[in-house]
Amino acid sequence: SSLRRAFSSESKIATVAHRGASGYAPESTLAAYRLGIRMKADYIEIDLQETKDGELIALHDETVNRTTNGSGRVKNMTLAEIKALDAGSWFNEKHEIYAREEYVNEKIPTLREIFEAFGKGTNYMLETKSPDENPGMEEKMWALVEEFDLIDHVAVQSFSQESLIKIREWNKDIPLFQLLWYNRPAYISDAFLAEIGSYANGVGANFLRIDESYVHKVKNAGLLMYPYTVNYQVNMDKALRWGVDGVHTDYPDRFKEVIEEE
Ligand code: G3P
Ligand code: CA
Repeated sequence: SSLRRAFSSESKIATVAHRGASGYAPESTLAAYRLGIRMKADYIEIDLQETKDGELIALHDETVNRTTNGSGRVKNMTLAEIKALDAGSWFNEKHEIYAREEYVNEKIPTLREIFEAFGKGTNYMLETKSPDENPGMEEKMWALVEEFDLIDHVAVQSFSQESLIKIREWNKDIPLFQLLWYNRPAYISDAFLAEIGSYANGVGANFLRIDESYVHKVKNAGLLMYPYTVNYQVNMDKALRWGVDGVHTDYPDRFKEVIEEE
């Protein structure tokens, strides 16, 4: 599959559509994911949250406040309550140049709806969010991946080490990415890299804190390096020069352009 190719050493560099093509369409909606796929992203990135009634939905925040017309914590809301919300109009108001009438009343999708919509037509970079607050979300995610026969089309990333280790125990081949976030210039020890290498295939870290030597250190440890979230072409160029294996971006078309110019 294209996913496996993307992870092989001689492969091309992966474009990950962060929350979909979220620079152009309301993040984490089917509209944003559809656009990411149309822009030929190798993966669509999906943050997973769990509703009060145990449904996995695509949403970055723990609340619906920022990206819908409602308010409240996802874990205290039922799927029916979530589905009543408009998850598109905020985007039109915030990003007038990319506003589209069709985004009005976009819904927050469930992971099931995303798999139903796109099937094997893309690869999925699934992120377990707050797994400690939502115990069992990995099991639910995995059941859906198996139901839709998408194991060869899925990678998983998380800031939670436990979440990734749990998934590794179920499957030895699925690509796993340890997410890291730095609030100062990034440093990573050999010991930590070795630890990550015992369960994961790669590292995702915030681009603005890393540099070429960090990328080389990760790669010398045999791990893939996917910085996030790289939205400007000057930075995309830089990431390519440093030798990254993939890039998370809200603008997949911009990164495709940079890759093609290489
Ligand atoms: O894709 C990596 C990135 O998604 C991690 O940060 O906060 O956007 O989920 P965040
Ligand atoms: Ca994410």
